[in-house]
Amino acid sequence: MVMRMLRVLGVLFLLAGTAERSQAQPPPPPPQPLPPVPVPPEYPITEEKRILGKILFWDEQLSSANSIACGSCHIPSGAGADPNPATHPGPDGTFGTADDVLGSLGVVRRDNAGNPIADMVFGFNRQVTGRAAPSYFASMFAPDIFWDGRATSEFVDPLNGSSVVIATGGALESQAVGPILSHAEMAKDGRTWSDVTNKLAVVTPLAFGYAYPPDIAAVLSGSATYPDLFANAFGDGAITPVRIAFAIATYERTLVADQTPWDLFIAGDTNALTPQQQLGWEHLRDRTVCTNCHRPPQFTDNQFHNIGLRPASEDTGRMAVTGNANDFGEFKTPSLRNVGLKGSLMHVGWVTSAADAVDFYISGQVNNGHMQFTADQSNIPGTPPGPARRYDNINIPVLDMNGQPFRAAVIDFLENGLTDPRVANETFPFDRPRLSSEAFMVPPGVPASEDWSLTILFLGLCCAAVLSRRILIRRS
Ligand code: HEC
Ligand code: HEC
Repeated sequence: MVMRMLRVLGVLFLLAGTAERSQAQPPPPPPQPLPPVPVPPEYPITEEKRILGKILFWDEQLSSANSIACGSCHIPSGAGADPNPATHPGPDGTFGTADDVLGSLGVVRRDNAGNPIADMVFGFNRQVTGRAAPSYFASMFAPDIFWDGRATSEFVDPLNGSSVVIATGGALESQAVGPILSHAEMAKDGRTWSDVTNKLAVVTPLAFGYAYPPDIAAVLSGSATYPDLFANAFGDGAITPVRIAFAIATYERTLVADQTPWDLFIAGDTNALTPQQQLGWEHLRDRTVCTNCHRPPQFTDNQFHNIGLRPASEDTGRMAVTGNANDFGEFKTPSLRNVGLKGSLMHVGWVTSAADAVDFYISGQVNNGHMQFTADQSNIPGTPPGPARRYDNINIPVLDMNGQPFRAAVIDFLENGLTDPRVANETFPFDRPRLSSEAFMVPPGVPASEDWSLTILFLGLCCAAVLSRRILIRRS
């Protein structure tokens, strides 16, 4: 009798233990696919707007000196970021010091007449942005964009700075009107919107680009002008900054990188991730705090955090926008989609790969050349409301990643499991024309007929020049 009672008690105890364990560690909720792209109801996506936006995004004539397009700093095969970063001297204005960052090459400073002038920092060289160019293939989901969120969800007509054109969900529009008048990125000093719209009214669209992708070639084959393209998109040929913004933002909203191996994996294709990448994904999800901020399926929470890349006084980040001291040194969490294609990560640009980013996060544990400036990481968020998640504990160190095989597996997952092959290979909708600045380069994936001919011609001319010089020297 006593033995039976003990056995029953034992079973009950075991059951209670199992119940307690399963309560503490319920299986993680199944990951969700990317939600539909939010589109401002006032301005639905149409093919005419998309194609106009694509042409504008890649047209170097959007800059004052016809030298740079939006796409120059946002190359698809570089994840929509800039694969060729350049040094900005940081707040001290001196190159070669600890506060330098890697930004994007903009334009040579020009006065209002379009003549080059010496910039205080860059002289007659091309200016460089003070932060790295981020990817924008997940920006359509974010309420406010730019590293500090200063391109707001509310889009105001830049012509008067007060009429609200989109009440919420217009961050891409708010952003698009920024670079066009920025003297560092695309503009001469004092450039006005009339300068921009009058120019677009008369130039040949994409006159400086070449190797057009099929959708652009089809539209431009009938020698369409910008007024024609604006009329197709908006009903009449008027060119306004608001319409430029709508068209560019519409194009950007169609660039959803949702065919990564991870997307296929969660949709049921169990072979889409290699066993090592699956291990990396599960480790990232279950045993690190990474996904508290880099939340699937977007792999960002679109919030702002200070992860301690530099002393926050060097760039106050979000605080400069909100004026709130709690936002000191905070920057927007970038999506980790396509991060394997980036060579210049974080807002400082000097983090060189996902592996280097992991090394930055574990720098408290190992001596790897990185350090974090925030010892206090208590602002790491928990998971959003919803079913509890295994290991949902912000005290589990970010650093719990240094032992093999987890570090290699996590890096493999980040670098390959989140890469959409259409982005990597620049295939539709991520295809694009070539820029005049690329004329003598052979970018990956370009048909030989398009670029080799120019390159061979150039090399041929160089050889001819060298040979004729030799002959001349020998003769004299
Ligand atoms: C000179 C290089 C350069 C040019 C030209 C340029 N950008 Fe950028 N872009 C940047 C940099 C640098 C940032 C980050 C700036 C910041 O956050 O302070 C950025 C940020 C963005 C973002 C925000 C992404 C996010 O989620 O935060 C978008 C979208 C974007 N650019 C689109 C464009 C468009 C559209 C154009 C043309 C109208 C353009 N860019 C022209 C360098 C450039
Ligand atoms: C507290 C929120 C938070 C946590 C936790 C976090 N990150 Fe980040 N992550 C960010 C923010 C914010 C940035 C951008 C920082 C900046 O530029 O100032 C970032 C940047 C990155 C980048 C660079 C991406 C790019 O496109 O530039 C990578 C890679 C990255 N994190 C991976 C990780 C990994 C791996 C972990 C876990 C070890 C992790 N993050 C944990 C918020 C977080």
